[in-house]
Amino acid sequence: MTQDELKQAVAQAAADYVAEHAPAGSVIGVGTGSTANFFIDALAPLKGRYRGAIASSEATRQRLEGHGIAVLDLNEVERIPVYVDGADEIDGGLNMIQGGGGALTREKIVAAVATTFVCIADGSKQVATLGKFPLPVEVIPMARAHVARELAKLGGRPMLREGFVTDNGNLILDVHDLAISNPKGLEAQINQIVGVVTNGLFAIRPADVLLLGTAAGVRRFG
Ligand code: 5RP
Repeated sequence: MTQDELKQAVAQAAADYVAEHAPAGSVIGVGTGSTANFFIDALAPLKGRYRGAIASSEATRQRLEGHGIAVLDLNEVERIPVYVDGADEIDGGLNMIQGGGGALTREKIVAAVATTFVCIADGSKQVATLGKFPLPVEVIPMARAHVARELAKLGGRPMLREGFVTDNGNLILDVHDLAISNPKGLEAQINQIVGVVTNGLFAIRPADVLLLGTAAGVRRFG
């Protein structure tokens, strides 16, 4: 199977999960990226059953609306029973690195509201230890150099994502060479740096369920 076929298979499995676990009339949280895009396509036939979706990025909003799925304001929504998103890396504790697409802040906000976070990923995303994928950190533009110096003190090698501005008008530093032995601790530590909006570690609020695409089929963890 190609990587896209694996992504499509987990996206369909996630749509089946939503159909089974999200009550009719509820609101579905939708992530960002190529795997999440396949999920949006798989969700489209179910759209009549749900009130609408919360989008974790402008790109996701556009794709949802292209399918005629209503996109709601999170401030008008109290409960999101299921949030489905991809990941750049995921470990055995379902801790993740997210933000390869730069949508980490909105993704983390939607995840914070969701009751169940379903991660969908092809097998290449599963790792023993997080950190080979550079950790994205969203920063307020005037704090870029300060945050970069602080991240270097933590042992990382921050690189500005050139020519990229987030949906929130901020910058991304991609931090290479981090040894992430304590994902929760590092997530909290980076959050304490003044000027950091969010970092791409999802360990304080990890996924609840992983649907992993493998050549032998979709495997479920959690
Ligand atoms: C976007 C993300 C994505 O979930 C992550 O980058 C995975 O993307 P893809 O499914 O294209 O591999 O965090 O900010």
